[in-house]
Amino acid sequence: MASAIAALRRGIDLGLTHIDTAEMYGSGAAETMIGEAIEGRRDEVFLVSKVLPSNASKRSTLAACENSLTRLRTDRLDCYLLHWRGAHPLEETIAAFDALVRDGKILSWGVSNFDVADLEEVLAIAGAGHPACNQVLYHLQERAIEHTVLPWCTRHGTAVVAYTPFGQSRTPYDARTRQGRLLEEIAAAHQATARQVALRFLLRQPEVFVIPKASTIAHVAENAGALTLELNDAELARIDAAFPRGRPRRGLPMI
Ligand SMILES: NC(=O)c1ccc[n+]([C@@H]2O[C@H](COP(=O)([O-])OP(=O)(O)OC[C@H]3O[C@@H](n4cnc5c(N)ncnc54)[C@H](OP(=O)(O)O)[C@@H]3O)[C@@H](O)[C@H]2O)c1
Repeated sequence: MASAIAALRRGIDLGLTHIDTAEMYGSGAAETMIGEAIEGRRDEVFLVSKVLPSNASKRSTLAACENSLTRLRTDRLDCYLLHWRGAHPLEETIAAFDALVRDGKILSWGVSNFDVADLEEVLAIAGAGHPACNQVLYHLQERAIEHTVLPWCTRHGTAVVAYTPFGQSRTPYDARTRQGRLLEEIAAAHQATARQVALRFLLRQPEVFVIPKASTIAHVAENAGALTLELNDAELARIDAAFPRGRPRRGLPMI
């Protein structure tokens, strides 16, 4: 706990100011820990939390947000997300989000794990400029969003927030594999690391943000190094070929 707080604080020092959490994580414990980490530094961070689909009725969304604000020891969220689509009508959740914006408790709202049809529904209900973001699974070995979700978000000014940006496998960072050797080779040309290259590839698109989780200061410092890394077109093309996007599939991948 103390080391996770120290890691978060070092991340803020290094410019990793987008802090992502959810009422679901540790059943509120993650928000409580983040509240401690950002004490006195609230204005330096972009703070995001998420309401569970089971709490996404109008009344329960309002209550869930209050609870998140209390645990985070703050008076506002920079963005509040519906964690994934559930059974409550989107109209209700969006009505709650609108009320929270009016009250200054959230400054913007978005969604997570939304496919194009869901995004279209949000747009039809809330109008242009919504949702502010769509947080989705996106990493070198899972590029499904590039087929339709990412282009939709680009067209509508919706930010794409890539979760699990390192993926669920260590293979891309294992220099004994072909993919690992490529990332290492490109990294070496920039005095960088394979993980920094992986993050930078996702960030080649201006509408994409990444939210790597790191609980040690060493990992935080390494990940912050991706902020200043620049890959050229030839390097991006080699990564693109080594980690193919694959064919369009039905359904949006999520974990
Ligand atoms: N919206 C959703 O449905 C959803 C779903 C999943 C995740 N998320 C969000 O996305 C965030 C990140 O996703 P994630 O935790 O699944 O995956 P991730 O950020 O891709 O990977 C986290 C893992 O990578 C390790 N790591 C981080 N930096 C490293 C480095 N420089 N070198 C080696 N290992 C490193 C971490 O280890 P250490 O902890 O030891 O540093 C941890 O084991 C979560 O915290 C959450 O906020 C959202």
